[in-house]
Amino acid sequence: MGVASDLYAHARTATGLPDDDFRRAAALVGLAVAVLVLLAAMRSSKKAKNANEPPVVPYSLPIIGSALEYGKDPVNFLLANQAKYGECFTLILGGQKATFFLGPDGNHFLFNVPLANASAEGVYRTLTVPVFGAEVVYDVENAVFMEQKKFVKDALNTTAFRSYVPMIWEETVNFLKEWKENPGTLNIFEEMSELTIRTAARCLLGKEVRSQLHSNVAKLYHDLDAGLAPINLVFRWLPLPAYINRDRAHKIMTDLFTRILRERRANNDTNNQDLMQTLMNSRYRDGSVMSENAIAHLMIATLMGGQHTSSTTVSWILFELSRRPDVVAQLLEEQSKVLTGKPDTPVDQLPAFDYEQLREFAFLDCVMKETLRLHPPIHTVMRKVTKPLNYKGFHIAEGTLICGAASVSQVDPARFPNPTKFEPSRFINNDEGAGEWTIGGVDIAQKSARSHFLPFGAGRHRCIGEAFAYTQIKTIVSIILRKYSVKLPISPKTGEPVFPKPDYTSLIVLPQKPAELVVTPRA
Ligand code: HEM
Repeated sequence: MGVASDLYAHARTATGLPDDDFRRAAALVGLAVAVLVLLAAMRSSKKAKNANEPPVVPYSLPIIGSALEYGKDPVNFLLANQAKYGECFTLILGGQKATFFLGPDGNHFLFNVPLANASAEGVYRTLTVPVFGAEVVYDVENAVFMEQKKFVKDALNTTAFRSYVPMIWEETVNFLKEWKENPGTLNIFEEMSELTIRTAARCLLGKEVRSQLHSNVAKLYHDLDAGLAPINLVFRWLPLPAYINRDRAHKIMTDLFTRILRERRANNDTNNQDLMQTLMNSRYRDGSVMSENAIAHLMIATLMGGQHTSSTTVSWILFELSRRPDVVAQLLEEQSKVLTGKPDTPVDQLPAFDYEQLREFAFLDCVMKETLRLHPPIHTVMRKVTKPLNYKGFHIAEGTLICGAASVSQVDPARFPNPTKFEPSRFINNDEGAGEWTIGGVDIAQKSARSHFLPFGAGRHRCIGEAFAYTQIKTIVSIILRKYSVKLPISPKTGEPVFPKPDYTSLIVLPQKPAELVVTPRA
């Protein structure tokens, strides 16, 4: 009320009209706006009522449409609409039509939509180009980006992972030394964000960057990351500090990587097992190499692509485990069996593990999958239609956003009985969603798209960081569980344990603040 009456007073002063005249003028302007909005809404709902277009979910706020309900709790909102309208329907989100394709068929359709009909860059370019930089990802033709993804994927190979596990081990152990003797209640998401960037930078960015991490790169990373706020999907630049810091951080990071690259070339320093080295050696199909800028920008993009996705996943794993001491006991027994051949070696006597042993922690794989089933970091993926499409008889017009949400199929009770229960054993001997991007040079992603479980996506935009994420996250969780037990804090108000709700306000689903766990050293 206060703000409204302030605005009213300001507007009246600005027009210079007497109060009565101003009231009448304001009422007329209000009426005109309402009529225009109503006409726009009628036009869009009329168009959507074409017999062969998907049903439009009714909404009461013109233009805004269902944006508030979808934004607040997308998964439950989509589930409720799926129950009413089936697996294909349209939401109006801020004046934009967004058609959803749910279930395994919908996933298959969305993830394999032909390039000639829809693009990811149509949705993400404005957001990502200022953060990642030019010449890479959504700034280039999709065919070029596909080659770039292959370069990064080549860097993330078994030989590299063998060298990464001891690095992640060392970074994690050193990081945990910074926790007090008895850490108590911690914002676990903040802690895991810091650990994720340290481990990723150490593995992927190379020795030179790691040595500067504490002072420089971590701060630059945070400024760049602020550039990935949802509002930047719409505005590429605004005169706000966040945008200025983003651009500054982007330039400093590009210059840093370019300098290192030149030094390596000048010193003929080629004996590195990191992303920069692989990108320096990579050739496009036409024989050309990546420019210095493109190498630097693809390194930035890879770091950003793996940061929140991994840090939120480690956090959710720890939250889920905090209410399942039985699962923690099974995980420790698994480590003990794999590493010592006995099920009950005391945790403080368990030796370090290598990559091959880590891969044998199969129940930990199940825990990670079950966590990704319930807490997929990317709840909705989007493409923009450039040429009309047909889906099961529905006409999808040019300009529509088309959306897939494996977050919905992953809680389908027909496929996952008792779907809200955290039950990692459901993934024992179940390969769904597993696998590499290619096997023996054959792209298998196309086949796996008709699936309920797709936390890493499918098709041409499928994640290339999956194997790295498993290596990084499994190592971190294994070490933390040996050293600490985790419990949920108790709310002073209700006396109940507090499990964080999902926060859907950023692009990646994070645990809602304060995202706390009580962390106690194992005796
Ligand atoms: C793409 C999830 C970790 C790099 C994707 C997509 C999903 C996903 C769902 C598909 C997006 C789309 O179709 O629009 C995840 C999850 C992760 C994870 C759940 C961890 C738990 C990583 C890591 C890296 C990475 C560690 C880098 C090392 C990428 C890249 C793409 C991608 C480059 C391709 C984007 C495209 O082709 O448009 N990820 N990701 N991700 N991810 Fe990941």
